[in-house]
Amino acid sequence: MQSRGEWSSRVGFIIAAAGSAVGLGNIWGFPVQTAQNGGGAFVVVYLIFTLVICLPVILMEIAIGRRTQRNPVGAFKALAPASAWPLVGGLGVFAGVMILSFYIVLAGYVLGFFLECATGGLERLSTDGEFAVFAGSVGKTFAYMAGIMLATIGIVVGGVKGGIERATRILMPVLLVMMFAMIAYMLTLPNAGKGLAFYFVPDFSKLSMGVLNSALSQAFFSLSLGMGALITYGSYVSRKDNIASSGFIVALFDSFIAITAGLLIIPSIFTMDPNVTAENMPAGPGLIFVFLPKMFMSLTPSIGYFAASFLASFFFLLVCFAAITSTISLLEVPTSWAVDERGIRRGRAALAMGGLIFFLGIFSLLSQGASDFFTRFITYPSGQTVDFLTLVADIFFESALPLGGCLISAFCAFRWKRENLSAEIAQGYPKYMGSWQEKALNAILYVLPFILFFIFINTVLEKYFAVEIF
Ligand code: TRP
Repeated sequence: MQSRGEWSSRVGFIIAAAGSAVGLGNIWGFPVQTAQNGGGAFVVVYLIFTLVICLPVILMEIAIGRRTQRNPVGAFKALAPASAWPLVGGLGVFAGVMILSFYIVLAGYVLGFFLECATGGLERLSTDGEFAVFAGSVGKTFAYMAGIMLATIGIVVGGVKGGIERATRILMPVLLVMMFAMIAYMLTLPNAGKGLAFYFVPDFSKLSMGVLNSALSQAFFSLSLGMGALITYGSYVSRKDNIASSGFIVALFDSFIAITAGLLIIPSIFTMDPNVTAENMPAGPGLIFVFLPKMFMSLTPSIGYFAASFLASFFFLLVCFAAITSTISLLEVPTSWAVDERGIRRGRAALAMGGLIFFLGIFSLLSQGASDFFTRFITYPSGQTVDFLTLVADIFFESALPLGGCLISAFCAFRWKRENLSAEIAQGYPKYMGSWQEKALNAILYVLPFILFFIFINTVLEKYFAVEIF
């Protein structure tokens, strides 16, 4: 039996979990969703969901993982043998594979933007319509995606401590500093105030069930929640550690980065295009690939093209690293499943899973304009036609994660039972017993599965059938 490994310390776990959480979901997803869903009101709902719904699920996942020291499937097998619960873990492992298959496409774009800005391409990338050309050039994007997958496999093979922790520890702080510098610059540009108002002043008339659905899915995705990534990472946590405070810090940090990224990107849309208003916000997955190059290009008159290109490529490089600390956690889930449940060696498991995911990713890659078949892949009963990447994201990001959260909380409430959950959280944090945190978690525990089930059903009705209950 090979040793499963353990984080070097409590901080080691926090860093790795924060690295998993902070990624394209924060820097790309959050601003895109905020723009699409009306600005400030979305931000408020997002933060409330993170605190009230997601934080409890974070603690549940870590507790299940640490209790059982297993991957998601093995964890449910250990706690509920001879039941259907391991299927919840199976759904998670499968969702991890599918999410990673489209995530590497986007992460590949970021790598591509880094390389192309570093080699003089900034001016071209900042012209209108260029992003579509870029996404359609399959030869290049294929190579970028392969680069991301290889880097991810390499780190996962390196194991828990050596690979994952070390990479994250250095890169995250640099990214943060760079974002703040860019925000400071952007705020000096004309129209930034309009962007800030759109971002920070909530217009609650924009709230709809659709906005609530998106905010919840986005919060789950951003926190790497609902498919067992934290069960897996939790399985490497020491019994001496306080998981309640670790989970809280991770949630706080992830939200902070998302808010910061939004603060950079949302107002920059207003500064780069004077005609933008709250009503005609450009939206869609291309957002950061369209507006960030424009913003860097706007530095040229003051600092010169060379320096502007340098900053742009450096920024995309950091985002690329943030993405890789997330792809690691996505590959770690199916890998740990293959190691624990199938007895495959770690290196081989990572390679096989990585290869499979890469293969699936090719369809998402082709669906961004290169192949007509995959670009107009399917029409929902609602009449909306989507590409293959969007289909996979709709199923495994928008729908499966809230469902996973629903099932995980149902498991804790009705099968594992709150005494066991409390006892596990109290390991390494004896004061938890009888504290207001325990009371709060126990109170929400029994409502959470129903809230999440309700939102899941709503998401399905709205996404695929265009039925709005409210
Ligand atoms: N949270 C990451 C991001 O924001 C993506 C991610 C990594 C993820 N691991 C996950 C999403 C597990 C869902 C489940 O980019």
